[in-house]
Amino acid sequence: MRQHYDISAVRKAFPAAEHVVYLDSGFQTPLSRPVKEAFERFLSEGFETAGPKQVWLNRLEETRAKVADFLGVKPHEIAFTKNTSESMNIAANALPLRAGDKVLMIQGDHPNNAYAFLNLRKKGVEIVFIPMTEVIDAESFRPHIDERTRAISMSHVTFHAGHRFDVESVGELCAQHSLYFVVDVMQGIGVVPIDAKTMKATFIGSGTHKGLLVPQGLGLLYWDATRTELEPAYLAAASLADPPLDFIARPDNMALPATAGRFELGNFNLPAVQALGAAIDLINQIGIEKIQQHCFELGDYLIERLDRLDVGLVGPRDRQHRAPHIYVIALPAADWLDYFTQNGIRVSPERDGIRVSLGMFNTIEDIDRLIEAIRARNAPTTQARTAVLSKLG
Ligand SMILES: Cc1ncc(COP(=O)(O)O)c(C=O)c1O
Repeated sequence: MRQHYDISAVRKAFPAAEHVVYLDSGFQTPLSRPVKEAFERFLSEGFETAGPKQVWLNRLEETRAKVADFLGVKPHEIAFTKNTSESMNIAANALPLRAGDKVLMIQGDHPNNAYAFLNLRKKGVEIVFIPMTEVIDAESFRPHIDERTRAISMSHVTFHAGHRFDVESVGELCAQHSLYFVVDVMQGIGVVPIDAKTMKATFIGSGTHKGLLVPQGLGLLYWDATRTELEPAYLAAASLADPPLDFIARPDNMALPATAGRFELGNFNLPAVQALGAAIDLINQIGIEKIQQHCFELGDYLIERLDRLDVGLVGPRDRQHRAPHIYVIALPAADWLDYFTQNGIRVSPERDGIRVSLGMFNTIEDIDRLIEAIRARNAPTTQARTAVLSKLG
């Protein structure tokens, strides 16, 4: 395997990866030194100066610019939220949908995306789920579009099998039919490069506690700033173009800004925002393309070793349709999860097996440890199978 970057230096930034075989970044990231340092800086500033809020808010704007750059958009198109669910709910409730309108989604997609839209059924909006297939692209949705269809909402990468759907072609389809397009990028961001404009998304929602390397409690929302008809369902002073400086609400001046700030409410998760700035710096120092390539190659290696053991992969195998970093192994989680934990290997139980999810710090040795654990437990079965085969002559 090629070295796309100094993997041992990167690994040193994630001490937890030395204590356990960490193959669970799709659940949550282990914390890195730069992220820890950003939190520590925030804490010591709070301790020593009772909180330099303006300094922190200036840093928030710097982080907003970094996020925007990361997604190929302008800073005023980015809002900070609490998590993916909040972002998806903000998006769902901003769309001007009425009774009888239809939204297309994918059966079995992440519930935090689905419920945001299912909740619109109380307004009479119809949510139509198309089947989840290994490949989802424009052709998957096209036959389901009719004169009542107004929007499509879907994940970029699935959490339960590592599909990487063709969001660009779906975005193009939405543009052709004047549909709103909402994308949940939570499972891919930080590993799969994202270009919001190529995706032609109206809204993109995400949290930051997986590929974006910070702890839970911070989310992102991209809003296509040309869609000024999209207004927030909730309002606070922070959402206004002209918040009252005397802190007395002005019913006659509630104009919204031309920025994604219209979707922001109240104070921010400032420490996590600062940590996110440090995390994006770390990703940029390595290069997202290199992280993606590294994970793809580890994935190729994993698939090849699983094949040798005759153990199946649940999701897509080819690079065109799979995420670089998420692989579900066809081993029943009820039988295998505790075994992996006892052997110092962190993975997640999934619908159809055991999910291995990779981060920038994972190595071939991590995959070897996993494979060796599977081989060791399967060995008696393999021997038994060989014995049966030899008896059969
Ligand atoms: C596709 C997807 N969306 C959303 C989430 C999580 O939602 P939230 O950030 O609201 O916790 C996850 C995983 O946790 C996910 O895989």
